[in-house]
Amino acid sequence: MKTAVRYYTRSGNTRKVAHAIGNALSLTAEDVSTALDTKYDVVFLGSSYYGFDADSHVKDFITKNRDKIGCIAVFGTSALLGSTRGRLKKTCSEAGVKLLDTEFHCAGSFGPMHKGRPDENDLKNAAEFAVQTMKYLGKKAN
Ligand SMILES: Cc1cc2nc3c(=O)[nH]c(=O)nc-3n(C[C@H](O)[C@H](O)[C@H](O)COP(=O)(O)O)c2cc1C
Repeated sequence: MKTAVRYYTRSGNTRKVAHAIGNALSLTAEDVSTALDTKYDVVFLGSSYYGFDADSHVKDFITKNRDKIGCIAVFGTSALLGSTRGRLKKTCSEAGVKLLDTEFHCAGSFGPMHKGRPDENDLKNAAEFAVQTMKYLGKKAN
């Protein structure tokens, strides 16, 4: 099963989670500015909240790469809200991209809030999420 890991980050929190997922699946996690080179069955997509919404770079990635995305598993960090999966539904629907129900979210540091997050435990949970998602899909990552 062709699998990719992409993420958008402003302060590095989501990048840490992306690398934990990449390591768990023996894949290299890359920024959403790196377009998909071929069709992938599943894309683990890292996205966080900025002003109560997902960043436009993440939405643009979905739209621009729609023909190369089999389905998306969302992961991310935020200070207060949960996963941005709900904020990406419209973009995925309009792009004709399947959004998996499964998602991973943990706290991400923001000013004085959540210092040190994501921490080792978060990264362990993220890796487990990746492995379980691949099991759920019934395939190996590559
Ligand atoms: C400009 C800005 C706006 C933010 N708005 C929200 C928000 O609306 N809700 C929330 O839960 N977190 C919000 N946060 C916190 C981020 O989602 C959190 O710090 C996240 O871990 C950032 O991920 P990143 O380091 O990968 O960019 C905001 C952070 C910034 C910098």
